[in-house]
Amino acid sequence: MNRLPASWQTDRLHIADGVLESVPRLMAIFNACSHVGQWDPTFQIYPEEEFAGLVTRSMVDGVGNGRFQLQTIGHNDQLIGYFHCHHHHPQPQTLLISMFVLHPDVQKGGFGTEMIAGLAHTAKAIGHHAIWLEIFLKNWPALRFWIKCGFTTIIDMDGAPQHDATSHASIVVAKNL
Ligand SMILES: CC(C)(COP(=O)(O)OP(=O)(O)OC[C@H]1O[C@@H](n2cnc3c(N)ncnc32)[C@H](O)[C@@H]1OP(=O)(O)O)[C@@H](O)C(=O)NCCC(=O)NCCS
Repeated sequence: MNRLPASWQTDRLHIADGVLESVPRLMAIFNACSHVGQWDPTFQIYPEEEFAGLVTRSMVDGVGNGRFQLQTIGHNDQLIGYFHCHHHHPQPQTLLISMFVLHPDVQKGGFGTEMIAGLAHTAKAIGHHAIWLEIFLKNWPALRFWIKCGFTTIIDMDGAPQHDATSHASIVVAKNL
């Protein structure tokens, strides 16, 4: 089973498999986005062990050429974000993005768009036919972002049947490669 290359580039970004030395920075990037938690319940404050666990899982899976992969996103020698994904999940030749986050200091600078264009190209090169991900409906900036990146096929919807201040619902969307 193919994984994304351990290191790859776009015009401005350097993407590489996560390493344990990066864990404090990954936690800082994620926790800096905790305001997203009101729209997407996966954005909560987690302890450092959580991030170390994700990086370790990605490294272990890498040895066995497995499904879970976490990569960091660097710009000018600084980590500005990361993503993690599941290869061939929930079906063959589909790459499921389970997290994608950029530090608020660099958001709205076109890095996300550049990164996803690069990921689409790289995922296709290793044999994937589609990228899927779940978006929470209250996360309007993310909805705008993913739709603009070409995630325009709705696969599924889930969550509360009615909107209120605390309820959440999400859609799974796909971009065909
Ligand atoms: C969502 C995210 C990955 C987008 O990356 P980005 O580099 O900021 O996005 P880009 O600069 O490439 O923006 C592309 C388009 O997305 C939309 N967009 C991005 N950020 C937005 C915001 N804060 N508000 C509204 N629209 C936004 C816009 O339509 C934008 O196009 P435009 O600039 O022509 O209007 C990034 O903002 C982020 O990490 N957000 C917090 C975590 C998160 O919500 N992750 C996604 C979970 S599903």
